[in-house]
Amino acid sequence: MKLTFISTCILMTGLLGISSCNTHSGQSNEEKSDTPTQANDDKSDSRTQAILNMKRATDHHSYSKPEEAVVTHLEWDANVDFETRIINATANYSIKTSEDAKRILFDIRELDILSVRVDGIETSFDIGDEQEFIGSPLSIPISPTSKIVSIAYNTQPGADAFLWVEGSENSNPFLFTQSQAILARTWIPCQDSPGVRFTYGAKVEVPKNLMALMSAVNPTEKSADGIYTFVMDQPIPSYLLALAVGDVEFRSVGEHTGVYATPDLIDAAEYEFGEMEDLLVAAEGLYGKYAWERYDLLVLPAAFPFGGMENPRLTFATPTIIAGDRSLVSLVAHELAHSWSGNLVTNSTWDDFWLNEGFTVYFEQRIMEAVYGRDISEMLATLSYRGLVDEVSEIMDLNPDDTHLRLHLKGRNPDDGMTAIAYDKGYLFLRMIEENVGREKFDDFLSTYFSKHAFTVMDTDNFIEYIERALLSDEETRKAVNLTAWIDGAGLPDNCPKVYSERIEKVDNTVAQWAEGGLNTSDIPWSEWLYQERYRFLKSIPASVTVEQLDELNVTFKVSGTGNNEVLFAWLEQSILKHHTASYPRLESFLINVGRRKFLTPLYKALLETGQTQMAKDIYKKARPNYHSVSTGTMDELLADS
Ligand code: BES
Ligand code: ZN
Repeated sequence: MKLTFISTCILMTGLLGISSCNTHSGQSNEEKSDTPTQANDDKSDSRTQAILNMKRATDHHSYSKPEEAVVTHLEWDANVDFETRIINATANYSIKTSEDAKRILFDIRELDILSVRVDGIETSFDIGDEQEFIGSPLSIPISPTSKIVSIAYNTQPGADAFLWVEGSENSNPFLFTQSQAILARTWIPCQDSPGVRFTYGAKVEVPKNLMALMSAVNPTEKSADGIYTFVMDQPIPSYLLALAVGDVEFRSVGEHTGVYATPDLIDAAEYEFGEMEDLLVAAEGLYGKYAWERYDLLVLPAAFPFGGMENPRLTFATPTIIAGDRSLVSLVAHELAHSWSGNLVTNSTWDDFWLNEGFTVYFEQRIMEAVYGRDISEMLATLSYRGLVDEVSEIMDLNPDDTHLRLHLKGRNPDDGMTAIAYDKGYLFLRMIEENVGREKFDDFLSTYFSKHAFTVMDTDNFIEYIERALLSDEETRKAVNLTAWIDGAGLPDNCPKVYSERIEKVDNTVAQWAEGGLNTSDIPWSEWLYQERYRFLKSIPASVTVEQLDELNVTFKVSGTGNNEVLFAWLEQSILKHHTASYPRLESFLINVGRRKFLTPLYKALLETGQTQMAKDIYKKARPNYHSVSTGTMDELLADS
């Protein structure tokens, strides 16, 4: 029997002992009658069926067949060896099986499988052919009564999820993982699909001078024996599995919030993220109680390929957001927002990635507005809108279908979906709906959306069905909103909201005047500007501006010495475009130390586009060993074509 989506959600959440699906202030009466009030824990048959029948769209990026046999819990026992860069581990999985289950399928890539046991008895296993990005299926024979599958394995030193950062005279080594989108399978055999959720526990042994942290309940002190145990008793998808090992300290910054960083950064981090609790309170005020108990942030080495990663209970973040003035905290608002959009209500497959990121950008903006005011949030929105317009026109030339919110990533790397479409077109889509139905109604809708679907997945079709029923029942509104144009149509539809920031408008006028010689450099109100205005200024410098003008700007405002990495990035990009060679040493050290792909891609691209190919290649040669596979993947491709 196939259970309906709603009743499956009820059973799932009930049987896993999760209360978050239960009550929420924003719910209408009609919605409330659907929420679970009890679950019968004794009926293990229906429990199994509920997990097996859980609504899941076909995930083209996973070999697992959860409808046949699915993992519900992981106990991970691991030893982290920095000498060999190998993790030796055993993954013990509790599984649920269908009536006729003959095998369970895991995703693996770059793993050395040593042995497999089913309920304690060693068994044979089969590893299928390897596909690019996807890896191989690990097939383990089981029977419908099988309960525990244990896999002993070694990771490989170059496994794609890892970055092993070497220690130096002044620093200890560091290891971190990045699992999203499909890299978890390179460090733990798993059913690596966002539609499969499981709880986990872990025992991890690391060198005694280092602390281990995971997306779980974390220590705040180093242990004497280098052994750490972890519990994550809320079910999460595999892409949220995370591990970091380093010489880190913890500082509390609020009742539910704190930061971890290496000794050289801990003071700066404590100050920079000192408003984290305010963000959390604002987020709860918007869309309901925070489900994960604590929200901590780990500052990673600069090689981290992203700005942030929303690992549950412990966001991983780049140190490039430490600006000294708390100006880049919108990134924290973003990762925090994922605690609802993504971590509670998860995109069903990577084709539905916009459901994670678009909702998160919308939520991020609302947090920023609540904490810092609409001026700031509109400035940020305007910057993303402008970025989006540029990116849409770029993608339209390559593959117009990639500008649809709903993606078609079968046979491609899910990483291809990480564009401004999912993020900013997704954001504008939700903002457009808000503007059509009114903020109050939209906020009620979102609160209910999160509480009702907590700890389950959402795909694009189900979202359409849900929103049409819950919010767009009126024919006229449905027409005005035009879901299809946004979700399965190219570019930005006609009803795209107008985003306007007076401050950004003023910057645009200033830069135009200055470029034409109508404004002296010293009259630019640089020191009065926020970083967003400085960033916008640098980004919009036209081609006609000379290297002398650029140099004058730098001499007057010491732009290249800025501690704000967004501004520095925009400066370095201009320096490349205008051949401002005095900035090249700074450019080189930035490219060697910082591994954040969002910065690397435009900088290397600018070098190539301006014929400075040899320089790009020379720097890349030095920098590449410091980068994570996420970044080398993109840069290898970029530089190979040149
Ligand atoms: N979850 C993403 C990062 C991600 C997406 C990793 C897809 C792998 C595959 C994270 O929440 C994110 O969006 N980070 C952004 C920051 C944000 C402020 C837009 C980043 O790292 O740039
Ligand atoms: Zn995100």
